[in-house]
Amino acid sequence: MKKILFAASECVPFVKTGGLADVVGALPGCFDKSEYDIRIVVPFYTCIPQRFSKDFKYAAHFYLSAGAYINNEYVGITEYQYGGIKYYFIDNKRYFSGPRPYGDIREDIEKFCFFSKAVLSILPVIDFRPDIIHCHDWQTGMIPVYLKTEFAGGDFYRGIKTVMTIHNLKFQGVWDIKTMKGLTGLPDYLFTPDKLEFNGAANMLKGGIVYADKITTVSATYAEEIQTEYYGEGLHGLLSARRGDLSGIVNGIDCEIFDPANDDSIFATYDFNNFWAKKWENKVYLQEQLGLEKDRNKYMIGLISRLTDQKGLDLVQRVLNEIADDNTQLVILGTGERRYEDMFKGAEWDHKGRISANIYYSEELSHKIYAAADAMLIPSRFEPCGLTQLMALRYGTVPIVRETGGLKDTVPPFNEFTDDGLGFSFSNYNAHEMLHTINYSKQVYFDMPIKWQQMMLRGMTTDYSWNSSKKRYEELYDSLT
Ligand code: ADP
Ligand code: GLC
Repeated sequence: MKKILFAASECVPFVKTGGLADVVGALPGCFDKSEYDIRIVVPFYTCIPQRFSKDFKYAAHFYLSAGAYINNEYVGITEYQYGGIKYYFIDNKRYFSGPRPYGDIREDIEKFCFFSKAVLSILPVIDFRPDIIHCHDWQTGMIPVYLKTEFAGGDFYRGIKTVMTIHNLKFQGVWDIKTMKGLTGLPDYLFTPDKLEFNGAANMLKGGIVYADKITTVSATYAEEIQTEYYGEGLHGLLSARRGDLSGIVNGIDCEIFDPANDDSIFATYDFNNFWAKKWENKVYLQEQLGLEKDRNKYMIGLISRLTDQKGLDLVQRVLNEIADDNTQLVILGTGERRYEDMFKGAEWDHKGRISANIYYSEELSHKIYAAADAMLIPSRFEPCGLTQLMALRYGTVPIVRETGGLKDTVPPFNEFTDDGLGFSFSNYNAHEMLHTINYSKQVYFDMPIKWQQMMLRGMTTDYSWNSSKKRYEELYDSLT
């Protein structure tokens, strides 16, 4: 039996701000339980819904010190069994209170330094010695560092391997060296350019990349891209030096949570046999709910996204008026940077009945949009994998994407002559190239309905579950044990 511990800062269904939570919540459940004992450790945030936390079972507690700034901090261990998986939630109210998992970056850095050391420290207490600790993103970057340094002496920890998965290289957890020494208690020799030092500061993700046994990211294209200066966020040299240990494994989605045939959140469920008529029904209901003009023949484009620079929203801003023509509706669901929230709110005002800007977070509305929209716009500047295009495909909604990262790997472009492809794509980060692609998609939608319908069906029947990717992770784990 191989023992694997996932360590992450978010996980569906307990706490989610983006795709990381979807992945950490879905992937562990896919492995064969007779071969893999996979457990998950995340912080016990007070914002985890009570319907879960009321059943968390206290297991033990102890006190942990790291550098001078983290002194005798409470580490509570609570356990919870969910969907056949064992979860550990690390409790410390000073660090994990508040309405959201993340807030002020300086505080986040401190709490995830604490979390990383706590993850290693709980293992003897819960009597679980994993063969591999699978770390996700910068918040867990210090785990491989601690494991190979401060924890390396003990018999218990010797031989434990680590995998560092990069879901988004943009966020690295960087702070000044003096503070980081104070938070981690790690020795001076680690804060050098070949280890944690980065532009004169200390970088938690870099530590993870340097010390992990294997590094993965969430698509083959992004694995290549991050070795270049444009996408490498200052770590391309290191990543390319470690390319022998770096691989790209594309994400899947949880096909039970995202299943148009069995989804309580949508107005009308559907499958391959009735999707055309039923998607119309979903569209008209959604138009009514959101105050859009009720007309099933409008071309409805959805956009479900964190509203940040990563997602290509400045391109949308540039040509918004051209996108929202007489025959088109745009439904936005997202939160994030104020300027994009305001931009979409303003656009809704200017295009009443055509644009609906929903500036909040709602799983339920997201499902309704996946089901109702004809197309899903994802024009990202960079996209490690992207899950919204996969969710869209599953619901027969045609993605319009920029050819980058996982978007490039999962959305082969439509070819009207050979009748293949799953969506529309453009290559340069350019608003008019995007507009041209959207206009072409409209032309196919209105003038070639049979081809459009066939493309919807191809999307719905393509397997984007975790089935094939989990095999890649198994191979990776097997290569380490
Ligand atoms: P990222 O992790 O970069 O945000 P992904 O495409 O990997 O992008 O994952 C985004 C996830 O978050 C998807 O599950 C998407 O449906 C969801 N999501 C994003 N914004 C919202 C929102 N405002 N309401 C509900 N779900 C959202
Ligand atoms: C990150 C990326 C996104 C990816 C997700 C899950 O948040 O931005 O592209 O799908 O992680 O791996």
